[in-house]
Amino acid sequence: MTSLKQHLGAAFSLDGRVVLVTGATGGFGRALSLACARAGATVVLCGRNGKKLDRVYDEIEAAGGPRPAIATLDLATATAVDYDALARTIDAEFGRLDGLVHAAALLGDRTPLEQYDVPTWCRVLHVNLTVPFILTQVLLPSLRKSTDAAVVFVSSGVVHNPRPFWGAYAVAKTGLASVRELWAQELERAGRPRFYSVNPGRMRTPMRAAAYPGEDPATVPAPESVCGPFLYLLSAAGGATAGGYFDAQ
Ligand SMILES: NC(=O)c1ccc[n+]([C@@H]2O[C@H](COP(=O)([O-])OP(=O)(O)OC[C@H]3O[C@@H](n4cnc5c(N)ncnc54)[C@H](OP(=O)(O)O)[C@@H]3O)[C@@H](O)[C@H]2O)c1
Repeated sequence: MTSLKQHLGAAFSLDGRVVLVTGATGGFGRALSLACARAGATVVLCGRNGKKLDRVYDEIEAAGGPRPAIATLDLATATAVDYDALARTIDAEFGRLDGLVHAAALLGDRTPLEQYDVPTWCRVLHVNLTVPFILTQVLLPSLRKSTDAAVVFVSSGVVHNPRPFWGAYAVAKTGLASVRELWAQELERAGRPRFYSVNPGRMRTPMRAAAYPGEDPATVPAPESVCGPFLYLLSAAGGATAGGYFDAQ
């Protein structure tokens, strides 16, 4: 597995790029959205909670970044109508999409498979695995209109280090790495977009706190410190790195 940690502290320009981030209100998605805007990107903030989205929007505006856009979408319940509307809006507003980061995810239950709640299993697989596939598919026409688009699937250490009790989350993240591989094999040879899976590693976020309630958050890196490799892949400089699976830390 290749590490991108040499880019952890680096700054890359995303000037003029349009980047959609799912989970933009989450610990990592918010940090990455702010970092993308700071790097010059117009960020499409995708999330399910209007108030939280407004807060990230305001933070970007207050920091003087390009005016972001908001895409309110509950990924557990969105239908084809919602996805088509999003794709149409992106195309009408921007005429292309230069970056797509699938950061939204659900942790689900941390229980043995024997006791795993089946409706929770289905919801986690849907939000964490099926939705990134759907969003990539519906946004592909806009991604193709970019001269240098990058799609980043946010992965997890459980893919290459499976552990008991991670249930649907581990299965979804493992499947997501396969989804990336298939997109890349089917489309990358045509030159674009670039498809990456990136394991961000440990980050001090609500998901981490839920997964490790006994852990001292002060010992876990802030999500802001992990954004560099993602900015790199979304930038023109990232074009030097072919699609694949990477560790951010
Ligand atoms: N934190 C870590 O240590 C760590 C390690 C490895 C990988 N990751 C990965 O990093 C990514 C970001 O995770 P995080 O740690 O930042 O977790 P987080 O703070 O819990 O953020 C998860 C995001 O997903 C959104 N989301 C969940 N269900 C949704 C739905 N039905 N519709 C729309 N959005 C939904 C949440 O929305 P709300 O804000 O509305 O709740 C939130 O914005 C995830 O893909 C995670 O698997 C995290």
